[in-house]
Amino acid sequence: MIKTSAYFTAGDDFDKTQASRPEFQRDAEVTFSKPPKPDWKEGEGGNDGGESLKKNHVEIDPHEEGRPVSSNYKLLISGVVPRPIALISTKSKDGKTTNLAPFSYSQVINHDPPLFTVGFVGSLEKAKDSLKNLAETQECVINIISEHFVEAANATAVNTPYGVSEWDISGLHQAPSSVVQAARVKESILSIEGKLVETKEFESRTDPGKKTGVLAIIEGVRFWVREDAIDEEKSVVDLKVLKPISRLGGLAYGRTTDAIEIQRPKF
Ligand SMILES: Cc1cc2nc3c(=O)[nH]c(=O)nc-3n(C[C@H](O)[C@H](O)[C@H](O)COP(=O)(O)O)c2cc1C
Repeated sequence: MIKTSAYFTAGDDFDKTQASRPEFQRDAEVTFSKPPKPDWKEGEGGNDGGESLKKNHVEIDPHEEGRPVSSNYKLLISGVVPRPIALISTKSKDGKTTNLAPFSYSQVINHDPPLFTVGFVGSLEKAKDSLKNLAETQECVINIISEHFVEAANATAVNTPYGVSEWDISGLHQAPSSVVQAARVKESILSIEGKLVETKEFESRTDPGKKTGVLAIIEGVRFWVREDAIDEEKSVVDLKVLKPISRLGGLAYGRTTDAIEIQRPKF
């Protein structure tokens, strides 16, 4: 097995690694190139001339003897990439405190109705602040993260005691929502007001009986798109304005600066 990683390695000097990297290209716009094999024909399979077929795979039982669950975490967050990030805004039931935090176990799963899933690590009993508020109020706002506030969005992941607001820590701004109490992130190009549909709690396999994860299904009831990012039909969000940030493995975030288009197959 090879020992290599594009990621910063724990134990290394992070500041030194960062200093050695090139500057961020703020003006980089998404570029569309041709796909790897524009003349690909039905039945051709991979576009690498069979190279990938010469490699073998390592089989891993996620719960094999002696395997720490952290290895599954690291494998999944580095391998299932890039992941969208839901920057979730919630308000406490008494309306006194607000909360903001990023979650990358998140995805849109339907459009009629608009439905989203978010995976919260931990139990309902000892819920993260966002989940506690979401479960108690049945409401939240999902904000999509763009390049122009990635550091601030990352700062909201700080583990503050319940009631301490990540809005102040991040410097992000609240904008009023329409049908939920929680605020939108004003810096966000796209925000979705959401109502909780249901939650489902999951148990550990290595420590049976221990609740270790909660799935929340959220229905989107209002969309907010920055006016310079939406077309006249209010249907397409401009990728060049959105400049979305995704989650990769370790501490890494992804930009979307390269894209390809391939036509849908017809039978
Ligand atoms: C980019 C990013 C993605 C994250 N994704 C998740 C996730 O999907 N599920 C989760 O439970 N925690 C996730 N976290 C960690 C939470 O954001 C962190 O525990 C945060 O403190 C929770 O805030 P809260 O207790 O105020 O809700 C993520 C952190 C970062 C930086």
